[in-house]
Amino acid sequence: MPEDRGKKLTMVTCSAPVNIAVIKYWGKRDEELILPINSSLSVTLHQDQLKTTTTVACSRSFQEDRIWLNGKEEDITQPRLQSCLREIRRLARKRRSDGEADVDTAGLSHKVHICSVNNFPTAAGLASSAAGYACLVYTLSRVMGVEGELSVVSRQGSGSACRSMYGGFVQWIMGQQGDGKDSLAQQVEPETHWPELRVLVLVVSAERKPVGSTSGMQTSVETSSLLKHRADSVVPARMKEMIEAVHKRDFTAFAELTMKDSNQFHATCLDTYPPIFYLNDVSRRVINLVHRYNRHYRETKVAYTFDAGPNAVIYTLQQNVEEFVQVVKHLFPPETNGGQFLKGLPVAPTTLSEELKQAIGMEPMVKGISYIISTKAGPGPRVVEDPSEHLLGSDGLPKESA
Ligand code: DP6
Repeated sequence: MPEDRGKKLTMVTCSAPVNIAVIKYWGKRDEELILPINSSLSVTLHQDQLKTTTTVACSRSFQEDRIWLNGKEEDITQPRLQSCLREIRRLARKRRSDGEADVDTAGLSHKVHICSVNNFPTAAGLASSAAGYACLVYTLSRVMGVEGELSVVSRQGSGSACRSMYGGFVQWIMGQQGDGKDSLAQQVEPETHWPELRVLVLVVSAERKPVGSTSGMQTSVETSSLLKHRADSVVPARMKEMIEAVHKRDFTAFAELTMKDSNQFHATCLDTYPPIFYLNDVSRRVINLVHRYNRHYRETKVAYTFDAGPNAVIYTLQQNVEEFVQVVKHLFPPETNGGQFLKGLPVAPTTLSEELKQAIGMEPMVKGISYIISTKAGPGPRVVEDPSEHLLGSDGLPKESA
């Protein structure tokens, strides 16, 4: 741990990934502890494309806990931030009183400065809270010498954040206990398990900010009988099937369950009163496109899933990526020269057959999709060893670039 003894400044920087659920979490049974009404399962995306980086510093000279997010100081008294800070400090105190060695007692009695940035635009509407809270909890745990099951802590920042504590394929087991100790994330398979699986994030140009997940799911729990049916009777069986599909690398089963579960989640949104609409015309066109593409090949080659916004996340296998990206470019022609339309892992251009274009049979729509991020499954949080990557300077304040 880098430590400037003169100024007694302890500093650690870590990064954490985004995850995209294929069996969705929607609805809490406890708002404060963030306990869900059903289990869920997600794929952790690769940090080369999408990640949060967080630096935590602690020093005797700090007057108060402070946090800067994407260059702006935010209110540290926010309950979810307080829950994470309180829980990590509690675990650190417990370790110390249990007589565990190397617990940094300085981290316990001193205030912390936290600085966090995303390597993707917040405006893209990609769920950044999962990576954000996972990174916060992971970094705090490193500063304060806490080990063990940390997903129960990041869960209290944002439910989906517990799944970003692991790489690859991750389930969030809903648990039964009132104190939430058994509501935690578990890796189903590591990211190396299915190297052919690829992910395309289609960033839809949206004008409006949709209803946030926290308030959206609260209204759903209060008003949707479909959500209750989903949580009690549908998801338990789907979790089993999904875990099996992942174990067996059965793309057809994985893809069909992913699409059905996304559709059912959005059906519960429509069943919410008043209804919530996360999908827009572009989202629905992507849904149609995927079904027409699969029907043309008489094979489920591509799957879509949508969270609390209009962006589509596509799961497919390596061998289909070039053609499918070309289909997206054909139906959603890039606004400018197309140079920045595709970000992330390189995808070579290809030519589409007339037969395929006809089978899809949809008119191109300009400006529907702003850009595509091409990525794959990736590892969980990690410590950034290079001190030049700290986001806070030796004065404990954000560096210019942060
Ligand atoms: C649609 O984790 O953002 O993305 O627990 O209130 O912070 P809070 O909600 P959040 O909800 C995510 C909902 C979802 C589905 C999913 O990721 O499983």
